[in-house]
Amino acid sequence: MARVRYTFGALMLITLVGVAIGAQPAMKGPLPKITPRVAEARPTKDGVDFFENKIRPVLVHQCYKCHSGDVAKAKGHFVLDTHDGLRKGGDSGEVISPRHPEKSLLIEAIKYQGLEMPPGEKLSDELIADFEKWVEMGAPDPRVGKAAKAKNKIDLAEARRYWAFKHPVASPSPSVQNQAWPLTDIDRHILARLERENLKPAGDAELTTLIRRLTFDLTGLPPSPEEIDAFVNDSSPGGLSRVVDRLLDSPRFGERWGRHWLDVVRYAESTGKERNLPYRYAWRYRDYVIDSFNADKPYDKFIVEQLAGDLIRPNPKDRNHRELMIATSFLAIGPKSAATKNGEQLQMDVIDDQIDVTGRAFLGITIACARCHDHKFDPIPQTDYYAIAGIFHSTDTFSGIKPGRKTVAEERLLQLPEDRKSAKPELSKEEKEHRQEIASVQGQLENLHAIQKMAGKNKANPNGAKGKKAAGGNKVDMRDLREEIKKLEDRLDELEGESTASKNLTMGVREGVPSNIPLLVRGELKEKGPEVPRGVLTVLKTAQTAHFDERRSGRLELANWIADKSNPLTARVMVNRVWAHLFGEGLVDTVDNFGALGDEPSHPELLDLLAVQFMQQRWSVKKLIRSMVLSHVYQLSSDHDDENYEKDPGDKFLWRMPRRRLDAEEIRDAMLMASGQLDLERPEGSPVMDLSNRIIGGGKGKGMGMEEIRKPSRVRSVYLPILRGLVPEMLHTFDVADPSLIVGKRDVTTVPTQALFLMNNPVVLKQSEELAKRVLKTDGLDQNGKIDLAWRLVLGRVATESERAEVRYYIEDYRKSFAESKQSGNPQLAAWTSFCQTLFQSGLFRYVY
Ligand code: HEC
Ligand code: HEC
Repeated sequence: MARVRYTFGALMLITLVGVAIGAQPAMKGPLPKITPRVAEARPTKDGVDFFENKIRPVLVHQCYKCHSGDVAKAKGHFVLDTHDGLRKGGDSGEVISPRHPEKSLLIEAIKYQGLEMPPGEKLSDELIADFEKWVEMGAPDPRVGKAAKAKNKIDLAEARRYWAFKHPVASPSPSVQNQAWPLTDIDRHILARLERENLKPAGDAELTTLIRRLTFDLTGLPPSPEEIDAFVNDSSPGGLSRVVDRLLDSPRFGERWGRHWLDVVRYAESTGKERNLPYRYAWRYRDYVIDSFNADKPYDKFIVEQLAGDLIRPNPKDRNHRELMIATSFLAIGPKSAATKNGEQLQMDVIDDQIDVTGRAFLGITIACARCHDHKFDPIPQTDYYAIAGIFHSTDTFSGIKPGRKTVAEERLLQLPEDRKSAKPELSKEEKEHRQEIASVQGQLENLHAIQKMAGKNKANPNGAKGKKAAGGNKVDMRDLREEIKKLEDRLDELEGESTASKNLTMGVREGVPSNIPLLVRGELKEKGPEVPRGVLTVLKTAQTAHFDERRSGRLELANWIADKSNPLTARVMVNRVWAHLFGEGLVDTVDNFGALGDEPSHPELLDLLAVQFMQQRWSVKKLIRSMVLSHVYQLSSDHDDENYEKDPGDKFLWRMPRRRLDAEEIRDAMLMASGQLDLERPEGSPVMDLSNRIIGGGKGKGMGMEEIRKPSRVRSVYLPILRGLVPEMLHTFDVADPSLIVGKRDVTTVPTQALFLMNNPVVLKQSEELAKRVLKTDGLDQNGKIDLAWRLVLGRVATESERAEVRYYIEDYRKSFAESKQSGNPQLAAWTSFCQTLFQSGLFRYVY
């Protein structure tokens, strides 16, 4: 049935979509900027980060010895210290086939399949997985030409003169020639620049276009036909600002803007990596973020809560203790390598993730680059890294992960204080017993492991008289021992796999043992250097932040330093993030990097003005957004203009509003909304809660709960389960953020899988049919009325006369062919379904103009 529909649909598709696109003047002119997914594309920021963090260090350490410098002398005539060398390969030709690890000699070599690289000791499974992922990403490698121009020495005095480290100041608005045009300060800044560049702002967007743009931007959903009518017919003054206020007040606002934040903080509900363990309570943090945006929580407070909520004295009146604990999940939800057996290594890796996300999310600074050497581009000495690492080292992180374990250890999660709303006691009798049994099995296991280790040592030393005897009598013992261990491990798996719905647990952090830690030379655990006092970035140190109380971790001090008005980065980075979501590009294009490798601001004074106003308005994100969308710039049309285009093809100076493709969540949510199927209730928790505590997708399968996770759902996309490596297909197809990376700006790709998805995916077919039923069921509409309704629900406007004629013809034709093909089913419904699906496939649906 579905297949037949697809064949007919495909026949007519081209014409109808062609009509739909041609009918909209805004579609003329070049398409929006799109990054094609091709092998040799310029590496993306994510790609560069991945290379710098995961790949370069291994190359330097494990391979340079034999594969760098002079090609003639290098082993296998293969050098990998330059981009060209790595791509060219050696005696065997190319060693990397971008996007195809399985076809890459380099991957075979490090997996010891044929060649054995590096000779002697194989890389860890985790490092090998990193290389495979990197090749899959297209082997991004930023080292163009010779080595990048890295700095040898850090000069702090000079560094403080760098624009992003100076305090933002609000300069007076620039004067403009066209006095009548600007509505706000933002406009004066933008117009002044346009005039300087000899560019003319485009005309205003049509009202239907504007309300669609606004509603998607603020809530991630399309406006309803009634909302469109109300706006278009409201000619009283202040109509626009009333709509803006309505949207900002809607609970849908937090779902949209919370999702933006979740991208930045690498939110996910599992550890990822080779041993993917579930974070069954991560959703609490997701809900916390959404609620914070809805409540317009001041951004400075939002920062402190996520870094140090556990250290803020809870307000007894608003009973926010639970919320403050949950907020610190921010530090616990990063990807983790549960397979790492070395507890110290695992801890340092967790700290590295915490430093990275703290630095980039709040400050737009890549502090984590200073883990192994002084930062090569920004003024961050390696000691700064270890000053901050000391803070997190003095912190206890609760994510349920223990080194080398194959299951989640629930004792490594935090018990939430009782929610007054639910009268349940904290731990039921069964839960207590359950916990006791787990502890007992764990104790037995530890004993047996110790015995096994001892026996193993003796065996490895069979020459000693004692050893020989032990080894002889050992064989049987060892086998028994292994069996016993296996049995206990299975029992532990079983016990821990049991989930009791009443579990009142969360991820998060708590104060640990406060202490400074030593610098690690080249980031190596074994090469401990001098101890570094805890502190913040030297380049931005102020009098108040110079001192840390020895008796505390320093996390609260760190949080307050970031959230302080005197920090020049914090406000700038956030207003720039918000700007980028509304205007397509940030004023600083590299939204997660304000350092020397990032871009300079296109409108530095505007950026400063927004930052200053943001702080003055008590860090209110809603007010910030309000000021941006009520500007004249935001209301411009996205129409093409030859003259402007010639001078500024990238629209850097904003002579028009850029078109943007709906993101993955918007595409799914808007389909469900159009068909009337979207469930706007927030689901309780997440299906991940029902997973067992074992490795996801691995092991015995039974009772894993993955069926539950994959079940079709009608909730908003932000509530779908986000497991690392297993994000829902639809979201993945349309460039959802990789939940293992910090993503301030998503890629927008155009690939054939997207078109195929919209043609064949059962969810799309189902929603097309639901929409068709909805339209056909609506009383009192003639054929044209029905076409208009579908058009309005999906595209936000009525059809033109020629579009209607085209659709009538299409439906009639489809109905006839369907009937003649003697398919079972209702030809009328089939025809309308196909037409609705075509609407979902059209560019007019997938873009906001
Ligand atoms: C101790 C020296 C040494 C180290 C360290 C080393 N290699 Fe090699 N490598 C060699 C030698 C020798 C050859 C040539 C072997 C042959 O052709 O049988 C080679 C060949 C290769 C080749 C095949 C080149 C070609 O085109 O034939 C690849 C790929 C390779 N190495 C990758 C690596 C990587 C990746 C690392 C680091 C993870 C590494 N090697 C570390 C010695 C080394
Ligand atoms: C896990 C350790 C580690 C991390 C993290 C790391 N590097 Fe390096 N990096 C090295 C080592 C080792 C070298 C070689 C020795 C040196 O130059 O200090 C190196 C060298 C470099 C060089 C010199 C050029 C070259 O090819 O020799 C640059 C530039 C560089 N790193 C940039 C970065 C940036 C940017 C980041 C953060 C995104 C980063 N590194 C993070 C270990 C690391």
